[in-house]
Amino acid sequence: AEGLFTYDPGFMATSSCQSAITYIDGANGVLLHRGYPIGQLAEHSNFVELCYLLLNGELPSQEEYREFEANIRNHTMVHEQLANFYKGFRRDAHPMSILCGVVGGLAAFYHDHMNITREEDRRISAIRLIAKMPTLAAMSYKYNIGQPFNYPRNDLNYAENFLYMMFSNPCEEYKINPVFAKAIDRIFMLHADHEQNASTSTVRLAGSTGANPFACISAGIAALWGPAHGGANEAVLNMLDEIGDESEENIQRYIDRAKNKDDPFRLMGFGHRVYRSFDPRAKVMKETCDEVLGELGMADDPQLKIAKRLEEIALEDDYFIERQLYPNVDFYSGIILKAIGIPTNMFTVIFAVSRTIGWISHWNEMISGEYKIGRPRQLYVGYNQRDYPAK
Ligand code: SDX
Repeated sequence: AEGLFTYDPGFMATSSCQSAITYIDGANGVLLHRGYPIGQLAEHSNFVELCYLLLNGELPSQEEYREFEANIRNHTMVHEQLANFYKGFRRDAHPMSILCGVVGGLAAFYHDHMNITREEDRRISAIRLIAKMPTLAAMSYKYNIGQPFNYPRNDLNYAENFLYMMFSNPCEEYKINPVFAKAIDRIFMLHADHEQNASTSTVRLAGSTGANPFACISAGIAALWGPAHGGANEAVLNMLDEIGDESEENIQRYIDRAKNKDDPFRLMGFGHRVYRSFDPRAKVMKETCDEVLGELGMADDPQLKIAKRLEEIALEDDYFIERQLYPNVDFYSGIILKAIGIPTNMFTVIFAVSRTIGWISHWNEMISGEYKIGRPRQLYVGYNQRDYPAK
């Protein structure tokens, strides 16, 4: 069809799947969602509209947006029984471990009367997941700090509701800072989808068995938790804390450690499996970081200064230049989240809330069409056949 990509059969044969949702050109730092560049979407759209685009393939009309947004608002509450799931976890459980368990548990509430071959059942599953993830995430945080859960409010938008459920408590009125709400919405947008990354591939593989979408999303959360994938923004802040000051000599010492194969230290938030130039999301994230910290009078934040100096020195270092290593989406996101007051153990949870739309859009794209159960092959490097030794 007009304007759609075509590939040579050779590339097609090596691909794990076909998808029309997101396109990445790693060599040139291009990221398109249904053809729209991430920079334009971040500037002109919002997370709920991006959810509609990723799921349905086109931007919504005003009426379509209004209906989609209202549908999400009306599904933000979770079953009261689900709140009991949290009580089974230790208070100090990592919020990702709670989220992974509770999202899988959603299946117990919806799986029995859901038929994934019916388009309407797939649609409502997607709405439920988009709507409930912020509620479940905020509940994971509240449980972790021993505060009562907050119910979602229908008078707030998606990002405002998440902040309210995270930070409101019965003893005082919580005032939503519009700078924080805009930053959270932007962070949700920048993490929404990224083609066949490890967690999305996990969701597609689980979905290819016919498993229900809630179980598939729970599998995606488990894959995202790893520090090489979704856990990197938490690791970036820990790295900036370890580096401690932005003196050139100190930063160079850490860059030299990152280059030393015998040293486990890596520049977290740097490098990518696909990008061989700037991750376009990192550019927008850096602008957002300057905006938010500037509005908060924190332009001189020590960690921001270390991060900027680290980026400058690394990008002039032959090791990083030769290996085409650049900041990725995680390099600045943690600094913004910390400025908003989000604890580091919630950073990957926020990534999971955002990436749920990517996961469920890929799941829906696969289940809506012809698909077979996934079965990755291997390169066998073990023994040839041999006989069991005679006794
Ligand atoms: C995400 O796939 C996605 O799309 C993921 C994601 C998404 O939106 O879903 O974009 C989200 O996962 C972003 C990445 C977050 N992770 C980190 O920031 C952790 C730090 N980054 C590295 O662990 C690493 O860059 C990876 C895991 C992201 C990629 O690892 P690769 O595939 O080994 O990177 P590569 O093949 O490009 O490495 C080439 C060389 C290697 O050295 P040599 O063997 O050639 O000598 O670069 C080195 C690597 O050792 N290298 C690094 C480095 N990243 C790669 N050296 C120092 N510091 C780093 N961060």
